[in-house]
Amino acid sequence: MNNFTFWNPTKLIFGKDQLEQLKMELPQYGKKVLLVYGGGSIKKNGLYNTVLQYLTEIDAEVFELAGVEPNPRLSTVRKGVEICKQNDIDFLLAVGGGSVIDCTKAIAAGAKYDGDTWDLVIKKAKINDALPFGTVLTLAATGSEMNSGSVITNWETNEKHGWGSPFVFPKFSILDPVNTYTVPKDQTIYGIVDIMSHVFEHYFHQTENTPLQDRMCESVLLTVMETAPKLLKDLTNYEHRETILYNGTMALNGILNMGYHGDWATHNIEHAVSAVYDIPHGGGLAILFPNWMKHNLNVNPTRFKKLAVNVFGIDPNGKTAKEVGLAGIEKLREFWNSIGAPSRLADYNIDDSKLEIMTEKAMVNGEFGNFTKLNHEDVMAIYTSSL
Ligand code: NZQ
Ligand code: ZN
Repeated sequence: MNNFTFWNPTKLIFGKDQLEQLKMELPQYGKKVLLVYGGGSIKKNGLYNTVLQYLTEIDAEVFELAGVEPNPRLSTVRKGVEICKQNDIDFLLAVGGGSVIDCTKAIAAGAKYDGDTWDLVIKKAKINDALPFGTVLTLAATGSEMNSGSVITNWETNEKHGWGSPFVFPKFSILDPVNTYTVPKDQTIYGIVDIMSHVFEHYFHQTENTPLQDRMCESVLLTVMETAPKLLKDLTNYEHRETILYNGTMALNGILNMGYHGDWATHNIEHAVSAVYDIPHGGGLAILFPNWMKHNLNVNPTRFKKLAVNVFGIDPNGKTAKEVGLAGIEKLREFWNSIGAPSRLADYNIDDSKLEIMTEKAMVNGEFGNFTKLNHEDVMAIYTSSL
């Protein structure tokens, strides 16, 4: 393992009927609240009314930013920053999925910065402060509810970048599985793929002696794979929603990856696709991850073998590590196909016309990845095999 310091200050409030805790948590941060939400799912399922009722009961002065897009855009972040600065907002409350939370993180940091928030996303300026914020999560996927990362898209320049800061951990996050009942089947599938992909990004590292971390990663994968088909047949099953929701948070809150750095190249490659074609993040990962794996099988076949045996149940007898690893990758593709995830860029009508543009976007900061470094040719090869 590498030396490490673990610090995660987010208060996680998990379970049925926990939303009312908003009334205990929020008042300590002030009265003026900016409520941030997406395209209307919370109005359809009634969550908006309940949140507003609780905010009224604590005499909050409520401002609203509606319409945060999936793959949240800088233009919306800027609107939120403006509202905060003009009205002296004390606290932000994100009610939604990863996009709403990521947008809220950017607004929180932007509100305490004099220049344009994009400077913070592209690391041109340092983040020294942020407004406090909390979240009510409605979709299991990104882990944004308990981490300090955010991903913002500049649609004018077709750039999508991840950024983070210790200042943008949520103060609290309220996770009631019931609030995820109305997530449609396709978004539920994307969430499942995203959760598994976060674990894969951790798992492919080159640090020695991480036996507990490996087993924790394998456990999350096995649990998600066992639960996903049952949930997809019964979208309002409390126990299955609960299991997936908890796994989603655990997959990217820093607990699985203490003592080593994961890879994260596939996320970078996917963000470049979403930046150009605005496809769902989990859909892009389902297409790209098995191809990243195949492309890098030779880097460390033993690592792929371990995953194949422990998670995908491949019998290693009489086979080389590479053969076992490959069989595991094929099982992963089979599993994602079986739950209805996309498998080719063509599923989103993406052809080879913009591969070069996407590759350049992925390469904007030079070679990347920690398990192995990818160069221009590698990225192009992974895109090409994903067509
Ligand atoms: O906008 P509304 O109307 O709320 O609808 C959303 C949206 O259309 C809908 N939805 C969410 N909760 C719902 C619901 N519909 C019905 N019932 C509910 N309870 O689902 C759609 C997708 O929502 P979104 O928030 O975009 O999904 P997700 O949580 O997957 O977030 C994706 C974004 O997060 C970034 C991705 O790149 C992408 O931009 N990521 C953020 C990370 C982080 N901060 O740590 C890490 C991830 O790897 C990821 O890159
Ligand atoms: Zn992800």
